[in-house]
Amino acid sequence: MNSKFIDEDAPFGHDHGPMLTGPFAPIAEEQVLENLPVEGEIPKDLNGIYLRNGPNQQFEPKGSHHYFDGEGMLHTGLFRDGKFTYRNKWVRTDGWKKNDDAGEELYWGVMNSLKGSEDKPMNDAANTDVIGHGGKAVVSWYLAGVPYILDPLTLETIKAAPEYVSGPGKGMSAHFKVDEHTGDMLYFDYFTEKPHMSYGVVSADGKLTHHVPIELPGDRLMHDMGVTENYSILHDVPVYHDEEALKADRHKIRFDSSLPMRFGVIPRFGASDSIRWFDFSPCFIYHVVNCWEEGDEIVMVACRYMPAKKADGSIDEERTAKMIGSLQMDARLWSYRMNLKTGETQEKCLNADHNVEFPTYNSLDTGRYTQWAYLVDHDPKMLRWTGIRKMNTDTGESVGEWTDGHDDCWYSEPWFAPADNPQSEDHGYVVSFCWNAKSKVQELQVFDALDINKGPVARIKMPGRIPPGFHACWMKPEQIDSWAA
Ligand SMILES: [Fe+2]
Repeated sequence: MNSKFIDEDAPFGHDHGPMLTGPFAPIAEEQVLENLPVEGEIPKDLNGIYLRNGPNQQFEPKGSHHYFDGEGMLHTGLFRDGKFTYRNKWVRTDGWKKNDDAGEELYWGVMNSLKGSEDKPMNDAANTDVIGHGGKAVVSWYLAGVPYILDPLTLETIKAAPEYVSGPGKGMSAHFKVDEHTGDMLYFDYFTEKPHMSYGVVSADGKLTHHVPIELPGDRLMHDMGVTENYSILHDVPVYHDEEALKADRHKIRFDSSLPMRFGVIPRFGASDSIRWFDFSPCFIYHVVNCWEEGDEIVMVACRYMPAKKADGSIDEERTAKMIGSLQMDARLWSYRMNLKTGETQEKCLNADHNVEFPTYNSLDTGRYTQWAYLVDHDPKMLRWTGIRKMNTDTGESVGEWTDGHDDCWYSEPWFAPADNPQSEDHGYVVSFCWNAKSKVQELQVFDALDINKGPVARIKMPGRIPPGFHACWMKPEQIDSWAA
């Protein structure tokens, strides 16, 4: 390792924007830690691994830095027979290896070159998402790059998987889904050229079994998708690159309130022309909770990004676009229904009181009805998650919440971890990292999912800060090839 950060709070100084300083500052060390102090008790029926991806810049960036630029680093918490092991490691992408060999940053970020060019190459940072698939962990980047496959326990990067993707974009976005009932991985790709989107299915044994182009009216910046037992739900959002900025290779996004939010429902192995589009009120959606089928209806529960409003009540397009671009979130739990027989639609705010995002659920039932969602309370001013919350996806009721301090805490995306021999959908635990910027204490917290309100049942104490990051997942022993080795 040839990068050593001298100033822990600002390893590259203060000239590259706010996302490399303070709690966001990357860390330099890759570590394996065992026998850490625990307040409370690690549950004996909690076995498996929590994996969390996030940007962790290795070297001083070239020019302006966007949070999506940092090289992907995984932080994991392994629970095995009441014992705990923490491990962190950068994803060994091709770009990471080249940077590491050179001892400097060789790539330009999205603020400097939108798509990368010969003189300003861009790094596929693999920093956004992580999900278990086919016994391994798969990571991907929000701008849709080549997925990387890792051993979830050792975090060794096994390989890049270009065989998972196809033209014309040849990428896989963050927020691919894995159907645990069949082993299929469903994903989308998006790109500025026509037809602007594609959709693919990778089997449990790593074969691209389906891939079709999806024609959109123009360049779009969707972020997530949904799946049910038989369908996938693709997003056509009223958010796109500013045309002039795009021509000049600059990063600027537009929100167009004259366009609807559209969801395209396509059979899992459907042809391009089998997609059916349903229109809803204009908004943006970063993250879907889960989707399922109810008779003729497709149900999608998501965190709807609330467009900013002007004094007269109309949508403030410019401010909304700026907020989306800077990950300044104002979102509410929302349900969408699409009737495949009648074409009717319905959308409903499930809970107006809580600005919640980064939703998770019992992912053993991706694409099937799940009653419970686990989310973070979002600081409306910045990308900071102040606490965790459990909500009912039918009624929107908030049934559990916890924070060690709304003003001080930085939670990571919580994930539901089923107990051994679960008796109900929510019989298990919720796991999240928590950095307390006031007390300077870093913990991994374990909650009883049946009773979040009582606070963590175990607080595993870490020796140093873990940057907040993006997405996480939980893998059970049965989902991990190397568990028994
Ligand atoms: Fe995301």
